Amino acid sequence: MLRAPSAVESVSPVIDGGPPPGQWWRDAVLYQVYIRSFLDSTGDGVGDLAGVRAGLPYLSKLGVDGIWLSPFYPSPQHDHGYDVTDYCAVDGVYGDLAEFDRLVTDTHRLGMRVVIDIVPNHCSSEHLWFRAALASPPNSSARAMFHFADGRGTDGELPPNNWRAMFGGPAWSRVTEADGSPGQWYLHLFTPEQPDLNWRDPRVGHYFEQVLRFWLDRGVDGFRIDVATGLFRHPELPDSPDPEADERTRDSVNPLAWNQPEVHHVWRDWRAICEAYTSRDGRERLLVGEVSVRTAADQARYVRPDELHQAFFFDLLSAPWNADTFRRTIGEALRDIAGTGSTVTWVLNNHDQVRSVTRYGGEAGVFGATRARAAALLMLALPGAAYIYQGEELGLPEVVDLPDEALTDPIFRRTGSRRYVRDGCRVPLPWSGHASPFGFTEEGSTAQPWLPQPAWFAEHTTDRALLDTSSFWHLYRDALSLRARLPQLGEGDLRWLDSPPEVLAFIRGDGLLCTVNFGEEAVPAPLQGTPLLSSAPCPPGVLPGNTAAWWIDTTGVLGSVGEP
Ligand code: NOJ
Repeated sequence: MLRAPSAVESVSPVIDGGPPPGQWWRDAVLYQVYIRSFLDSTGDGVGDLAGVRAGLPYLSKLGVDGIWLSPFYPSPQHDHGYDVTDYCAVDGVYGDLAEFDRLVTDTHRLGMRVVIDIVPNHCSSEHLWFRAALASPPNSSARAMFHFADGRGTDGELPPNNWRAMFGGPAWSRVTEADGSPGQWYLHLFTPEQPDLNWRDPRVGHYFEQVLRFWLDRGVDGFRIDVATGLFRHPELPDSPDPEADERTRDSVNPLAWNQPEVHHVWRDWRAICEAYTSRDGRERLLVGEVSVRTAADQARYVRPDELHQAFFFDLLSAPWNADTFRRTIGEALRDIAGTGSTVTWVLNNHDQVRSVTRYGGEAGVFGATRARAAALLMLALPGAAYIYQGEELGLPEVVDLPDEALTDPIFRRTGSRRYVRDGCRVPLPWSGHASPFGFTEEGSTAQPWLPQPAWFAEHTTDRALLDTSSFWHLYRDALSLRARLPQLGEGDLRWLDSPPEVLAFIRGDGLLCTVNFGEEAVPAPLQGTPLLSSAPCPPGVLPGNTAAWWIDTTGVLGSVGEP
């Protein structure tokens, strides 16, 4: 029987000229680097590109196939870089283009890919285009790059329609015209500092194609597309049938503001650009979209063969800890998304969501860590690609008690509610030591990490995790190492097995069995002997509660049980 590999034995391949070609993205595991919280090389309390470069050996040892970098473009940081003033440059706080180039080179040398974030739905209110629009009169060509409209009411004092912004408040703000009079309104589906671009103006699309080429020429392997269901609005900007829904759910549900048919043309054009690069050198470039839609079937429309390669599948992330829901969610994704020829892109955490350890723990927090470990093993056994959000491999819980004055998320400012505030999953990573800054920021620097780190981060430092073979880090590393070695994992088929109601069991390929016990009571193990890998210790013959395990079925008996 195969066994989990012993502690740290990973060897990083050094590949001259970058990683090998092929459709690498189909079952790749990428690591999301939220740059400002990863590692600070300059001592200003904010992570940067040189910090990411310094962390590459750590990521290579973990065994991921590549990194997705959160936005590093010049920005006033109202939404931490998702408000861009220049799409072809690096914000001084994160470094410069030369540092970016070094990062790409080093990442490739370690055999990993680099995917960067691109933000086409909106720019910063400090972007030159928007400043020009503000300085220009109504109906000018400068205003046509955005959605400017006259207000309703007797003096235009009411917004042009009833749409609400995702981060609270109306989706419209009124400007003051050059002569000092109250003027038109502009649309922003996030904050007022993020005016929506008007993609019906061909200059916008043309510009973004140049942006893609700029970064592709610098060697990036792909783009994570922010708000990929956005870009176009209903041309007449009519009232929404349910204006409060966007705010209430924080999902893109306004049918007039999101998910318009025209957006698919953009993804086809972008795919063609990527394919042109591939045809030159055989290296596939990836487009992975943030596609928040209601169903897997809706999402499938974004990953048709000539559109995006992948789209994050968020339903697993939002599924409650329950075998039935997980099974249904996984089944729908495999049926609808894999059915397009793409692969499902699984995700349990990102920089916008409460961390899984806290989410699965509920109010009491009792089983959070055990369940998050089990969920990770489940995710990494599923067919397709997966994304790991920094700190997930350390089992970091959400920091739920940041003081109000420390919160920077515009959602807090705009809604006054802490409910959806995202700072708690963005606290700078703990690397070493017993007290803040836990090695995050340069030794001896006086600046504090940009968000305060709690004292209990000491239990989660990377140094500690690497030494403790029972840590989250080792579980992730062992799972990734097995994924790289076992042909059954990654892409391929999944067959459900009959199992007790609180247990999920499926077979991958010829005989890799994954079982997850969602209940609290132990159940009999499906096979004799020790599992290949498990999220918690498994006594002989037993699969404990809240535990996932991988087994190799050498008998071939299980592979033939259950419906295909
Ligand atoms: C989605 C990003 O993940 C989030 O962080 C950002 O605030 C919004 N898009 C707006 O760009």
